[in-house]
Amino acid sequence: MSARPVLVTGAAGFIGSNLVDRLLEDGRHVIGVDDLSTGSLSNLAEARSERHAGRFDFVRLDVRQGGLLPVVERHRPEVIHHLAAQIDVRRSVDDPLHDADVNVLGTIAVLEAARQAGVRKVCYASSIGSYGEPSEEQLPVNESFTTPAVSPYGVSKRVAIDYLRTYEQLYGLEWTALTLANVYGPRQTTSGEGGVVATFAGRMLAGEPCTIFGDGEQTRDFVFVDDVVHAFVLASDRGCGQRFMVGTGERTSINQLFRALAAATAYGHAPTHADAQPGEVRHSSLDAREAGQQLGWKPWTTLEEGLAATLAWAADRG
Ligand SMILES: NC(=O)c1ccc[n+]([C@@H]2O[C@H](COP(=O)([O-])OP(=O)(O)OC[C@H]3O[C@@H](n4cnc5c(N)ncnc54)[C@H](O)[C@@H]3O)[C@@H](O)[C@H]2O)c1
Repeated sequence: MSARPVLVTGAAGFIGSNLVDRLLEDGRHVIGVDDLSTGSLSNLAEARSERHAGRFDFVRLDVRQGGLLPVVERHRPEVIHHLAAQIDVRRSVDDPLHDADVNVLGTIAVLEAARQAGVRKVCYASSIGSYGEPSEEQLPVNESFTTPAVSPYGVSKRVAIDYLRTYEQLYGLEWTALTLANVYGPRQTTSGEGGVVATFAGRMLAGEPCTIFGDGEQTRDFVFVDDVVHAFVLASDRGCGQRFMVGTGERTSINQLFRALAAATAYGHAPTHADAQPGEVRHSSLDAREAGQQLGWKPWTTLEEGLAATLAWAADRG
């Protein structure tokens, strides 16, 4: 294991903070960077505790604003996991300039700091939201599936991968992109792509009404955050110059998810229905066989286990 630190952008966010905790458990020295625009320091309570004293540094900064290079030069990380992003699909439709600013210019700023400071590799959080609506025959989708994105968020997250490729060609900077399905688990907030689990869990525990958009028969591939974090750890050393699907291959309808969470929380109310959201695909599931072969990754958390862990965390938080 390298003695050089690992830097995580978006470290105070949902997936980033879980990744920080995992890296610290693995004995790594971790630099967390976040501007706290949607992330929270409370997600880093464990990382900042006495247990990890001297092995975790947090720097509050916006990756676009020039402060990143001095941080990277000072700490000389071997790998950067780039997770900082604007992740709200609806906001990207309302304000595509802001979305591109954070997601495209932010990624370029990370790549510039990486190449100038001699970072070996950048691992990037890509999104299945970048790859449009699959036909029934294409499901579960693999890496060859590339229909155009249906939202500015999908475009900005996809363009970033072209920059990764270009930096590899120009400067030999290594990269791996992980195309994530709908990630769920502890610390997720109610906004963003996989927020339906967090939203239903929070509302059911509080006895509040839940809304299903459309008929609820649309399906998603829900992948647990611990499994996703493991994929980033594996990608630090494997799968250079490639993009991998990170999902379970299973399709869970929103109605099924509602029923599973309602049973687990003894929630007695029926859902209310509202119009389907524009810009959302009907069905999604990812074929992670390539990640299995190249990274040695596979999901091991069942939906039942993952939902139980998420509910336990949400109940504990109150
Ligand atoms: N959650 C999912 O289901 C999902 C699915 C596919 C891809 N992803 C990708 O995974 C990554 C992490 O997503 P998440 O769900 O943890 O979201 P999140 O919003 O919890 O985390 C993003 C973090 O980035 C920080 N950030 C935003 N702009 C920044 C900037 N300019 N400088 C520094 N920090 C900044 C935010 O404060 C936040 O802590 C994102 O890149 C997202 O696109 C997430």
